[in-house]
Parts: sequence; structure tokens; C-alpha cells
Amino acid sequence: MQFTVALDGPAAAGKGTIARAIAKKFKFAHLDTGMLYRAVGLKTLEQGHGIIDPKRAAIVAGKLADHDVQRYDLRSAMASRAASKVAVLPEVRAALMDYQRNFARREGGAVLDGRDIGTVICPDAEIKLFVTATDAVRARRRFEELLSGGASTTLDAVLKDLQIRDARDSQREAAPMVQADDAVLLDTTDLSIDAAVEQAVTLIKQKMG
Ligand code: CDP
Repeated sequence: MQFTVALDGPAAAGKGTIARAIAKKFKFAHLDTGMLYRAVGLKTLEQGHGIIDPKRAAIVAGKLADHDVQRYDLRSAMASRAASKVAVLPEVRAALMDYQRNFARREGGAVLDGRDIGTVICPDAEIKLFVTATDAVRARRRFEELLSGGASTTLDAVLKDLQIRDARDSQREAAPMVQADDAVLLDTTDLSIDAAVEQAVTLIKQKMG
């Protein structure tokens, strides 16, 4: 059985949590595609001694290895910024495309979360969800996530980072973040995680028939 769930939306809207819960519930494989861009961003930054060179980023993306994507520091604020900078590069996106598409079409079902899954990577996904929440709620969630990971930051700094990244992600030429025409909007502003997951599960069950 092939069944793809495409989950897109802005930073810290709850995509990751919902994707993991769906994967567990339906026994689907899960790919957090942001991790690919984070890994490319950090490695490019390190190789360039703090500078992101587009040519270097394309080479890094073409040779990405498992251990790059399994680094412990991919959730840091520095990795988030680096990810969104390499994500504007068409060569980087092209280098990561086959891996994501193959993952999506595996037997047994797959859920992928990112920015362009429903629009570019899997335009034929069986179900597409666009997950959002207000800026203030998303910033609060990411702030708490970063604090619990031991980082020291402020709510205001996190909010600014999210807004800069969302603007870059939605205004870029290559695969901008946009809700697909056939995606269902899931606004998690006033929803608990359990309630958001329940809505997603109900929609998937309907599609599976
Ligand atoms: O977890 P969060 O929503 O903050 O970010 P993420 O999903 O890990 O993605 C990090 C960055 O990678 C985003 O800000 C995008 O610039 C980029 N990205 C992308 O362009 N396309 C994807 N499918 C996934 C992530």
C-alpha cells in the first residue's frame, strides 16, 4: 500500500508533533524534511568558516550522509537560520528531491513534513495538510522547546527569528512555502496537541475510506 501524507506550514506550527503522532498511529514511516535542509545549512556553514557559499551548499546537498542528518545540534537557532538560507537555492532543493520522493512512495505509507511537500515534492499525495498558528503562539512553543533543550534566548528573539525565516521561506522563487490548492488548513492556535492530532487522524481515515 502506498499512501502519502504531506504536512506543510510555517515554523513551529506543530507539523513535527502531528507528523510523529500520525506515523505512530498508522504505522507510516516519517521524514522530517527540515532536517535535510538543517544538515546542509550547518555543514555548509562549517566548511565555509561561517559563510554560506551557494556552490559549496549544492555539493554538500548532493553528498549528504546519514550521520549529517543525525547530528545532535540540528535543532539549534543557528541551524534554523542556515537551513532557510540554503533552502532558497534551487540546486540544493533539486539535490534533495529524489530522496524525498522515494521516501514518500515507499510501501506501507509515509508522512513527510516541510514547506513544499504538497506543492512540489508530492503533488499527488493522498492527503495534504497545511498547519498554521499565530506568530505569538508559534514563538511561545519554539521558545519553550529551545529552553527545554538548554538554550538561553528570549521570546522576542525567537519571534523575530521565526518571522524572518517565514518571510524568506514564503517569498523565495524556488518552491516557496504556500498552501496547496487541495490542502486542508489546520489552524492549531487554539488547539491542544491531542486535538490537532485527532483532527488530522480523522481526515486521514476519511481519505483511506
Ligand atoms: O521546525 P521548523 O518548522 O522551525 O523548521 P524545519 O521544518 O526544520 O525547516 C527549517 C528550514 O528548512 C525552513 O525554515 C525552510 O527554510 C527549510 N525547509 C524547506 O525549505 N523545505 C522543506 N521541505 C523543509 C524545510
